[in-house]
Amino acid sequence: MPLFQTIECNENTRILIWEITESFDELRSKIVLKEKTQLRLNGMKSEMHQRAFLSVRMLIQEMGFTDKDLHYDEFGKPYFDCDNYISITHSYHFAAIIISNETVGIDMELQREKIIRIGDKFTDYECKYLKPDFSEEYIKKLTVIWGAKEAIFKIRNEKGISFKDHIQIEPFSLDESKTQASLHFDNLVKDFEVHYKEIQSKNSEDKFTLVFAFER
Ligand SMILES: CC(C)(COP(=O)(O)OP(=O)(O)OC[C@H]1O[C@@H](n2cnc3c(N)ncnc32)[C@H](O)[C@@H]1OP(=O)(O)O)[C@@H](O)C(=O)NCCC(=O)NCCS
Repeated sequence: MPLFQTIECNENTRILIWEITESFDELRSKIVLKEKTQLRLNGMKSEMHQRAFLSVRMLIQEMGFTDKDLHYDEFGKPYFDCDNYISITHSYHFAAIIISNETVGIDMELQREKIIRIGDKFTDYECKYLKPDFSEEYIKKLTVIWGAKEAIFKIRNEKGISFKDHIQIEPFSLDESKTQASLHFDNLVKDFEVHYKEIQSKNSEDKFTLVFAFER
């Protein structure tokens, strides 16, 4: 039953994290799905993806919503019928949602060395303050930057956004938990407040980075 953690970000914003330990059948037995969702679930190739998808429904249930309340736009962005905004992420054996009265985006990523190899694909502006090496700090910082860009992308959801060219994350320290960012796209500049937090799995050595962003 593991609701892993609840984070009250502010008066009107809450994050819920689920650690996925249940089997597919166990999760499926606890949730009522509308037909459209059941069809999507049936089409998923990986059982881990199915369990994460069901865990998200456990989380929205915790918040008093049901699968009937949750919809997706043509790009795959989730939304509720009501005034609340929702953003969703899943990573390995974690699933998380953020629900707010403001526009928000969330992302969770496993911290891994592999990110060093693809760093130049999603950083440009950030190279001014990043010191490339093979340290844990560098891996963690790249993971924050990647997560922040995913979270901002999930808010704006616009075709053509490039993580490398259009989203800038301001310098930050891992000791703090917050930074600023901006999206420069389509002749507009949008500002964002970005928060980040390390999540330690209870069942393994894995460390994850949770990032969430608000549009300002
Ligand atoms: C769609 C995208 C944001 C999903 O992110 P991800 O890290 O792969 O996966 P996550 O588990 O964090 O998020 C998945 C959830 O995001 C949500 N999502 C999917 N498309 C979305 C969109 N267009 N806008 C907002 N949210 C979206 C969904 O809720 C989805 O979960 P669900 O379908 O099970 O409900 C991402 O794959 C993407 O397309 N990124 C932009 C492309 C890009 O520029 N990539 C980097 C190039 S260097």
